[in-house]
Amino acid sequence: MPSAASAAGEAGLRPAGAGGGQGREVKILFVADVFGTAGRRAVEERLRSLRAELGANFCILNGENVADGAGITPKLADKLLAAGADVITLGNHVWRRDGMGAYLEKSERVIRPANLSRHAPGRGLTIVDGVAVINVLGSLFLAPHINPFEEIDAIVAEARAKTQMIVVDFHAEATSEKVAMARWLDGRVTAVIGTHTHVQTNDARVQPGGTAALTDAGMTGPHDSVIGVEADLAIRRMRTGMPVRFYPAEGGVRIEGALVECSEDGRATSIETVRVPFR
Ligand SMILES: [Fe+2]
Repeated sequence: MPSAASAAGEAGLRPAGAGGGQGREVKILFVADVFGTAGRRAVEERLRSLRAELGANFCILNGENVADGAGITPKLADKLLAAGADVITLGNHVWRRDGMGAYLEKSERVIRPANLSRHAPGRGLTIVDGVAVINVLGSLFLAPHINPFEEIDAIVAEARAKTQMIVVDFHAEATSEKVAMARWLDGRVTAVIGTHTHVQTNDARVQPGGTAALTDAGMTGPHDSVIGVEADLAIRRMRTGMPVRFYPAEGGVRIEGALVECSEDGRATSIETVRVPFR
């Protein structure tokens, strides 16, 4: 059984300048889980200027919490695309709102986790402007239809047949699973960015094979909250064990995410976290 390191070595990305790359660096901005109206307004008012300030050529945005904290609607997806996202990824709340099945069936820029049922509408891989984006769901607490490690090799191979710039949004709860996925894909993709926990981690790194990784990109939304929800509501549910309806919070909004720089051959040269106060 090959180790992750040997598999990465066999299929590794070419080093910068070793054929294929023309030396041009590409900057990819990943915007972490956009939460509720507050998160969406931050994106609508600030994403274009932020892209310009960071020199980002491409923007991937996780939008699975934009509809009041759970799910997305076709209308909201269109708003996020109009605000400057090139591709939107989703997660465990993909089917929470009406109309997403038909929308995902047609959309080339909004993708859902690849390891859902093969009979479900939508796709888990898209390629836009030469950048492949893959969305995968973690196994712990999220109960995907297919284990992500069963699915990922085939979908990465499908992407690599067309481009070497590949970003994976691994929407997962467990840090161990996210670190393992990043190691497994080292040398085969440009970046593995974790989403879903809404808490930005301090482990941005470029791995030995040239794949950038971050366990969680954080949240674009109200941080004066419990991961986006009004704090007193979340605490009441936890203290009492009783059902409590959640509402998105509004204060302490910031845009969070990551900026990945890579060569045209797909090899990451740097990754840094992004944290920009909004209001
Ligand atoms: Fe999620």
